[in-house]
Amino acid sequence: MKKTVLVSGGAGFIGSHVTVELVQAGYDVLIADNFSNCDETNYKGVCAILGKEMPLVKMDFCDAAAADALFAGHKIDAVIHFAAFKAVGESVEKPLMYYRNNLESFINVLEAAKAHGCHNVLFSSSATVYGEPEKVPVTEESPRQPATSPYGNTKQMCEDILNDTVRSTEGSKEEIRGILLRYFNPIGAHPSALIGELPRGVPNNLVPFITQTAIGRRECLSIFGNDYPTADGTCLRDYIDIVDLAKAHVYAVRRMLEGKMKKGCEVFNVGTGRPVSVLELVNAFEKVNGVKLNWKFAPRRAGDVTAIWADPTLANNELGWKAERSVEQTLAAAWAWEKRLAGK
Ligand code: WQD
Repeated sequence: MKKTVLVSGGAGFIGSHVTVELVQAGYDVLIADNFSNCDETNYKGVCAILGKEMPLVKMDFCDAAAADALFAGHKIDAVIHFAAFKAVGESVEKPLMYYRNNLESFINVLEAAKAHGCHNVLFSSSATVYGEPEKVPVTEESPRQPATSPYGNTKQMCEDILNDTVRSTEGSKEEIRGILLRYFNPIGAHPSALIGELPRGVPNNLVPFITQTAIGRRECLSIFGNDYPTADGTCLRDYIDIVDLAKAHVYAVRRMLEGKMKKGCEVFNVGTGRPVSVLELVNAFEKVNGVKLNWKFAPRRAGDVTAIWADPTLANNELGWKAERSVEQTLAAAWAWEKRLAGK
């Protein structure tokens, strides 16, 4: 009997790529999204890649009744929760909107899962919970630092909400088991160029800003800071290919559904273990795509951490998952996606 995975926020950048990998791994997927932060481009792209109309429920998980009805009306074996606001800067300007949306939606998912026999919850967390780590690479045991934005705080709070729900339901008929996947920097697009990142307005993140500058939608890329204590003075990050990231979700869901978990709530870093600087990424983009990028150094951006990258050993060993794509392959896919968006 095929297992069904609910992907909340499944029309978004990460959710759409995870949906493709889940279906191709043999799972049935139900997508639920309120399209507050994306249009139907990626949903249509997922259907095109998979060659079928994917089941889709348009709904807002802040509506507790709607969340309950969704779980009551479908056999859901596991839920992957992406539905949340995720812009760091916007969360600083509108904290209450972020706390209400990100916390209420997750609580409603958990309440509905408990009430309707869905025992497996995978939460989309973020390396942002580590803040400015004292030691790199970070492992899952590295301490979480006080959040530097309401967005980051909602990630930490949702981790705690899941942990507490797992503890309080252990052994009961409402038992919830949880996996927290802490993503580092997801970048790139599906090799088909049918799905990818669709930032609204001016991109906050580096790679969409690079590709939009290269295609001519942005005048110039500003590299925020070249006076950091790193080899080339720019920040170091762990850029993980979106398809590699999506595959990690298949391994995690499989672990849950096959009863392979070793404790009620598990945490995994999902990264490559490979630190890359902003300048290295810009140079790699120009080289692999044969384009010249208009960029300049600019002052540091408030809130940026100097360096963070994953020690992915636990995910490699326990999930059997490992990032496989090179940063060059990822940047080529990101560029192909941007060109397709521009009709080129
Ligand atoms: C990466 C590097 C910037 C834009 C954020 C969130 C994190 C997660 C991923 C959601 C930094 C530099 C960027 C630009 C630049 N999001 N940069 N010029 O800040 O590491 O992480 O996105 O889960 O939670 O915090 O990613 O891509 O914004 O920045 O120089 O125009 O690129 O200074 O060093 P970040 P980013």
